[in-house]
Amino acid sequence: MSGSQVAFLGLGVMGGPMAGWLVQKGHQVRAWNRSPGKAESWASAHAVRPSSSIAQAVDGADMVLACVGDDPDARAVAEAAFTHMRAGAIYIDHTTTSAALASDLSKQAHNRGLGWVDAPVSGGQAGAVNGRLTAMCGATEADFSAAHPVMSAYCATIVRIGEAGTGQLTKMVNQIAIAGVVQGLAEAMAFAKAQGLDTDAVLAAISKGAAGSWQMDNRWVSMAEDRFDFGFAVDWMRKDLRIVLEAAEAKGLTLELTKLVDGYYGEIQAAGGGRLDTSSLARRFRHAGKAEE
Ligand SMILES: NC(=O)c1ccc[n+]([C@@H]2O[C@H](COP(=O)([O-])OP(=O)(O)OC[C@H]3O[C@@H](n4cnc5c(N)ncnc54)[C@H](OP(=O)(O)O)[C@@H]3O)[C@@H](O)[C@H]2O)c1
Repeated sequence: MSGSQVAFLGLGVMGGPMAGWLVQKGHQVRAWNRSPGKAESWASAHAVRPSSSIAQAVDGADMVLACVGDDPDARAVAEAAFTHMRAGAIYIDHTTTSAALASDLSKQAHNRGLGWVDAPVSGGQAGAVNGRLTAMCGATEADFSAAHPVMSAYCATIVRIGEAGTGQLTKMVNQIAIAGVVQGLAEAMAFAKAQGLDTDAVLAAISKGAAGSWQMDNRWVSMAEDRFDFGFAVDWMRKDLRIVLEAAEAKGLTLELTKLVDGYYGEIQAAGGGRLDTSSLARRFRHAGKAEE
């Protein structure tokens, strides 16, 4: 489906390139960002006009897509959009939030005659830039079918899990799996450096074997170079792990490794690294003594 009128709210690390793909695929895009400078530079790069308000961006749109920060941000942006959307339009939230928020917003949307899809994504900044994201979706079958062609502008994989909220629960599963993998990779890097190994040769030897992962393919080299000023911010990962740990606790489940890694991210935040990529777990070893001497 091309040629739909779509609005995109939130032009950050993820939202900016996702909205760019919608333009490239022939949709008529109106984009809005809270800080107007970002909207202006995005709009001039894509030869379209920025919208100065949520109301202006969503007016008459078939689909409204958002990718902002935490639960209160996603709620504020969605509720502002709902009041100005035309009946029958669909709201697709790509923000990673709690499942409770997604369920609540979906009810509000349906009560207003709007469609709803919670569609958190995985694949990182590179996935957004390359149009290869994975979206895990919670929606009615009808809303999902209508939203699917638009999301395919920047997603390689789009899966409906179940009703509203289940997309967010699936993203929590994803973040639990990632937390341990990134810490494992950070420990592997610290060990490789401590043994004086050539980290490029190590990557060539092990990345296609049983240790291989998306994190190894996309973060090993930058970890080796001590480069973390990009990607998925520690602040957002802590937000995700907070949501995960609350949801686990509500089911009486203790996620020991996730808790431990969340604490490590807390240390990075306390040292001023909240905007560093999550692979900055590797930096903890630099301060831990002999690992990189
Ligand atoms: N980066 C990744 O690799 C990645 C991967 C998967 C999922 N995610 C999730 O995607 C979401 C966005 O991440 P990101 O990396 O794109 O973050 P980001 O670069 O920090 O961008 C956040 C965007 O949300 C906007 N925003 C935040 N609070 C807002 C509010 N209250 N009202 C209006 N706009 C608000 C920001 O506007 P301003 O410009 O005005 O600050 C900015 O446009 C997060 O939920 C994150 O967990 C990120």
